[in-house]
Amino acid sequence: MKILSVTSEIFPLVKTGGLADVTGSLPKAMESFGVETTSLIPGYPKVMDMLGNATPLAVFEDLLGVRASLIHARIDGLNLFVLDAPELYNRPGGPYVDGTGRDHHDNWRRFAALSRAGAEIAMGLLPGWTPDIVHTHDWQSAMTSVYMREMGCRTPVVITIHNIAFQGQFSADLLPALGLPPSLYSTSSLEYFGDISFLKGGLQTADAITTVSPTYAREVLTPRFGMGLDGVLNERVSVLKGIVNGIDLDIWDPAIDPHVPRNYDVNALRRKRENRSILLEKFGLDAPGRGPVVSAVSRLTWQKGFDMFASTADEVIHNDGRVIVFGQGDRDIEQALLATAARYPGRMAVHIGYDEPTAHLIHAGSDAIVQPSRFEPCGLTQLYALRYGTVPVVSRTGGLSETIIDANDAAMSARVATGFQFHPVTTDGLRLALRRAIHAFEDPKMWARLQNQGMKAKFSWERSAQQYAVVYADLLRKAGRTVR
Ligand code: ADP
Ligand code: GLC
Repeated sequence: MKILSVTSEIFPLVKTGGLADVTGSLPKAMESFGVETTSLIPGYPKVMDMLGNATPLAVFEDLLGVRASLIHARIDGLNLFVLDAPELYNRPGGPYVDGTGRDHHDNWRRFAALSRAGAEIAMGLLPGWTPDIVHTHDWQSAMTSVYMREMGCRTPVVITIHNIAFQGQFSADLLPALGLPPSLYSTSSLEYFGDISFLKGGLQTADAITTVSPTYAREVLTPRFGMGLDGVLNERVSVLKGIVNGIDLDIWDPAIDPHVPRNYDVNALRRKRENRSILLEKFGLDAPGRGPVVSAVSRLTWQKGFDMFASTADEVIHNDGRVIVFGQGDRDIEQALLATAARYPGRMAVHIGYDEPTAHLIHAGSDAIVQPSRFEPCGLTQLYALRYGTVPVVSRTGGLSETIIDANDAAMSARVATGFQFHPVTTDGLRLALRRAIHAFEDPKMWARLQNQGMKAKFSWERSAQQYAVVYADLLRKAGRTVR
């Protein structure tokens, strides 16, 4: 079975968050189910640099007003179609924002063009390669199925919602420039509170909708989490399914991770202590007393709840622990965290930045990881933490609620607990959870059990990949298509 995955990020080529981890590791996981995935991605400068002088497979003279070509590549085991469109993608900044942190002014065109190219491939642009199914991810590729349906292409489409907070909302005046008829400005199509929404278009036209945990699949049906799209999703609930993300154990395994100075596994947790010392030194922190090293690796945004951590991190410090925060995001949240750290030199470090090796070292060297999200479709940080014997302290929402088992008395005696959860998601709730974790850390036996149980928890892709395989197979059956 051939899948065309259309995505704006893919690890290890371009990543701003978990979306890249998933689109980068799912194709590998699907191989054992006879599913062969090729991913269509934008030709960002870093991607183009890796291609060399490849011959284009196809040329678009006018792809939403720009010239573009399609290049095939195989990089790090990933099959790729790269959309080379210098006018859209060859510029400084990140995938979505310019060098000053502002959205690229033409993101509508950049990601509609990606989607349009995906639709052309589905229509048979490339002789000898047409997908059986198209899989799109979030608003950036959601328009693929809108274009496909406009072009009369009936190939089944799955859209995965990784985060419904980002919806690709633009002015309806852009419809002609998007090459779409004015009739699509209707509530049953793209219309969205007086504008148009790319994500809504995708949700209306895909045959199956998945999101990245069963809990989030239920949450998005409510006004609180659906963020304006709960009505659309309630109408389409019969095709909505939650499939929890897995993690790539080739990348996230403390026994073989090249970014971990002292590799370890569940039977050699002593070596984790050595990583802890290296980590503390790197962040300029004094050795702690009896308390834990509690860290965070995250986008520092309202979604992730780090404003709450700015006012509760002192709980760790006052109990003789250490705090490390590594990430970037909203300026005021960064400032609040930096201000807290300034009060505790040698005991709390906040580094604003983004760096893959540092993220791995923090997972390896910390005792606990905090993720106090207000909403969390799945969350990968807590899964990496489990794998690294680093106990997660998380809010009870979305994927966090179903991937971590709270260390209450019952779960401890049943030997299934893996972390600490709090609800409601408030500063007080977080403080209490930190207190519980600090208390547990004082009991080495209890802590070792939590680490052990977490490290043995199964979050590899196998089970989830199988569920995607079922979604794909169902779609083909419903469409009356045979698998090639
Ligand atoms: P989200 O995609 O909402 O940001 P996830 O938990 O699904 O949240 O995924 C976050 C991914 O981004 C993880 O792979 C995490 O390690 C990575 N990450 C977050 N912040 C940083 C950072 N400052 N440096 C390196 N990696 C980071
Ligand atoms: C989004 C979500 C996160 C999820 C990731 C990958 O960025 O915020 O919870 O893990 O996508 O699916």
